[in-house]
Amino acid sequence: MKFLSPRLTATTALGCALACAAALAQTATVPSPSDNSGATKAAALGKLLFFDPRLSGDNKMSCATCHEPEKAFTDGLKTAKGAAGKSLKRNTQSLFNLGLYSAYFWDGRANTLEEQAWAPIRAADEMNQDPDELVRELSAVPGYVQQFQSAFGTGVTKEGIASALAAFEGTLITRNSPFDRFLAGDKSALSEEAREGWHLFQDAGCIRCHSGPALTDNKFYRLGVDYRDPGRGAITGNKRDMHAFRTPSLRDVARTGPYMHDGSFDTLEQVVQFYFRSTPSASADGLTIDFEPLMGRSFSEIAPIVMFLDSLTGEAPEISPPRLP
Ligand code: HEC
Ligand code: HEC
Repeated sequence: MKFLSPRLTATTALGCALACAAALAQTATVPSPSDNSGATKAAALGKLLFFDPRLSGDNKMSCATCHEPEKAFTDGLKTAKGAAGKSLKRNTQSLFNLGLYSAYFWDGRANTLEEQAWAPIRAADEMNQDPDELVRELSAVPGYVQQFQSAFGTGVTKEGIASALAAFEGTLITRNSPFDRFLAGDKSALSEEAREGWHLFQDAGCIRCHSGPALTDNKFYRLGVDYRDPGRGAITGNKRDMHAFRTPSLRDVARTGPYMHDGSFDTLEQVVQFYFRSTPSASADGLTIDFEPLMGRSFSEIAPIVMFLDSLTGEAPEISPPRLP
């Protein structure tokens, strides 16, 4: 998709803004991505698994090693650190409000959270664990056997592990951000500068892609952040998807830096500045980007937009490491 001329942008954004604002206002809760009968029990079990280093081959790394609760379930690094401290090529995503995505990972290669969970467990440079071996290992722990029985009516299974992790992730919902309160009618929830930022966010066309309840359209775009990673192109095999990545949610974004799939930018100011100026127009392989730099815009607009982005920080559930069985 080509980015639009400023005039067109303003009209489309306005239509979208109203629809999107209505959609946002309705999202008091995020639907759980997984519904199994003992959902609560499954989520409690999933929490244990999430924090348990037994999930990795050498029993040293858990999901929480990279997705730290106090960092909005990111690691705060440019790119993740895998097994033996090896730097991986992508930035660790936050796990808040996952129910609002239609595909997971920066390149959208997993369609469900259940499917997603096995990727880091199996990956040689991440948790490096064989799924069958994991089932054997957990089956030797009476506390787990009992909890699988109570949540799923079975022993430890691969399906159960994935469902429990997904159920736990489904509870990681943030609520009641200043922007949500503003949309619900509390005009004082946003400062004047943040309100100006919300206006500029629409006017600059950010809302074309960052729309809907989580401020993402769940589509993939080539912004020209970097041309080393094939992104969505490696999944679909289509040249037009090369170097394209999923639009990230902007909920809680003030807590999830560094930003972009490769952690290129440390601050939100730098991200907005990138949109305003520094996008190259074509990659080495001749592909144009899905976005035109907003050259006409003034740098004085950056601070209000960042204030608006700050207002998307909600109240997060308090998750502390459980005592493992
Ligand atoms: C070595 C660090 C590391 C570990 C360990 C790890 N992750 Fe991740 N996680 C990442 C990175 C990096 C990404 C983005 C990868 C990509 O897009 O290719 C990610 C992405 C995700 C996503 C997708 C989020 C989205 O917005 O689409 C989910 C869900 C997730 N991880 C859950 C888990 C679970 C559950 C575990 C444990 C079974 C786990 N992760 C273990 C680093 C890690
Ligand atoms: C053409 C669609 C599109 C438009 C327009 C757009 N974005 Fe984005 N945004 C994306 C995509 C795709 C990414 C991820 C790019 C990557 O990682 O390479 C992104 C990333 C971001 C991030 C980083 C989030 C994170 O978790 O790393 C922020 C912040 C952001 N955009 C804000 C904005 C603002 C502010 C505007 C308007 C000035 C804007 N976006 C316009 C699609 C868009």
